[in-house]
Amino acid sequence: MVTLDQIVQFAKSTGFIFQGSELYGGLANTWDYGPLGSLLKKNIKDAWIKKFQRQTPYNVLIDSSILLNSEVWVASGHVGGFSDPLTECKSCNQRFRADKLIEDHDPTVSADGWSTDQMYQYLVDHEVTCPNCGKKEFLPIRAFNMMFQTHQGVVLEQANQIYLRPETAQGIFINFKNIQRTTRKKVPFGVCQVGKSFRNEITPGNFIFRTREFEQMEMEFFVKPGTEVEWFNYWKQFCMDWLVSLGLDQDNLQFDDHKPEALSHYSNATTDIRFRFPWGFDELWGIASRTNYDLKAHQIHSGENMTYLDPDTNERYLPYVVEPAVGVERLVLAFLANGLDEETLESGDTRQILHIHPALAPYKAAILPLIKKEHAEKSLEIYNELNQYFDVVYDETQNIGKRYRRQDAIGTYLCITIDHDTANDQAVTVRNRDTMAQVRIPIKDLRSYIEKETQF
Ligand code: GAP
Repeated sequence: MVTLDQIVQFAKSTGFIFQGSELYGGLANTWDYGPLGSLLKKNIKDAWIKKFQRQTPYNVLIDSSILLNSEVWVASGHVGGFSDPLTECKSCNQRFRADKLIEDHDPTVSADGWSTDQMYQYLVDHEVTCPNCGKKEFLPIRAFNMMFQTHQGVVLEQANQIYLRPETAQGIFINFKNIQRTTRKKVPFGVCQVGKSFRNEITPGNFIFRTREFEQMEMEFFVKPGTEVEWFNYWKQFCMDWLVSLGLDQDNLQFDDHKPEALSHYSNATTDIRFRFPWGFDELWGIASRTNYDLKAHQIHSGENMTYLDPDTNERYLPYVVEPAVGVERLVLAFLANGLDEETLESGDTRQILHIHPALAPYKAAILPLIKKEHAEKSLEIYNELNQYFDVVYDETQNIGKRYRRQDAIGTYLCITIDHDTANDQAVTVRNRDTMAQVRIPIKDLRSYIEKETQF
């Protein structure tokens, strides 16, 4: 697999991802998605919505506000408890997440569920060293709340303080009754949401893996109490199947079932799907059975009855919830890490290639006039027809071999060349990115051909 440095270099040089605010010296750990990266993100989100909402009759989609009444975060426990254990090296003053220091010191240890005292004792007993300066003394650990605070309105006073959401999930829970009433969905049903979340992470890093601003795709699936384990197992496999169907190698994926002692107090089952990132297996997707914790918390805190009345049995209950939650940027990184490749051709030449599912490829096809002067007009006509249905790109510079290589490197699935014969046979040559095989396709069939070749 490629190194993280190679991915960063590739992303920057091709226009997938740029350093944020580069013109002004950058802003640490922020990233801008360029022409290719923004299309890749859009395609990932479309593929998720298609599978999790559109093709799942149980599910609907919502788009709730990033800014919510602060009481939401008090009720959900984020104001009181959404924190990471922060420690500081006594010598160089660098700050760290204590649980990560422990897990990096001994990868067989998980500090999930440990108290801050337990973590501090471990640092002392095992003489854990500072990754920055190598010294072995840390300050006592304190809980650092990761909520981003801001103010609404013109007066900077406590009453106007609000938060940027740290997850999209709560926007779904607080709308549970609205959604159920207006859709008349019967339990079980799910609510999907895609959107930005913000966390003041202590140690962002590994390129786009952990950032302070990121995008989540979350589904809250409401079920009858007692059926949650069955549904948990269903969605766990569903998520894994989705990743594999989009081309991630099974060998690069694994389930990490959390041990009972490592579960959050409200969860009766949690698993992570881990991907083999360049630094090793790490969390890609969290799937949790959250019982009725969130609905109950909002019921108590708001005073509103959040129960569901089963119209068939007349039973009234607070639904339990199964929640798969994944970050879009982590998927971007996984698809780049999984797909970047260098092939040696029979001629001895090498070609850079991004093997990515055609449904995710930023461009489905490149439209290439063999000779600019002779074929540009027809090529642009074809380009203007196809861009009504697909993301396609037109490229007329340099020889055809170089243009093929350029498109292979950014994952463009098909190269469509307009040549001397096109005027006679009303057909074009279509080359496949992976096999490099070429076929002659009538222009009138191009749309259906691309649709068939790139569908998901
Ligand atoms: N509502 C549950 C929830 O948010 P989480 O495990 O904290 O659960 C879910 O987050 C997913 O969101 C993670 O598995 C990861 O893919 C993504 N994610 C979380 N924090 C992130 C960060 N700081 N940067 C990038 N992605 C992040």
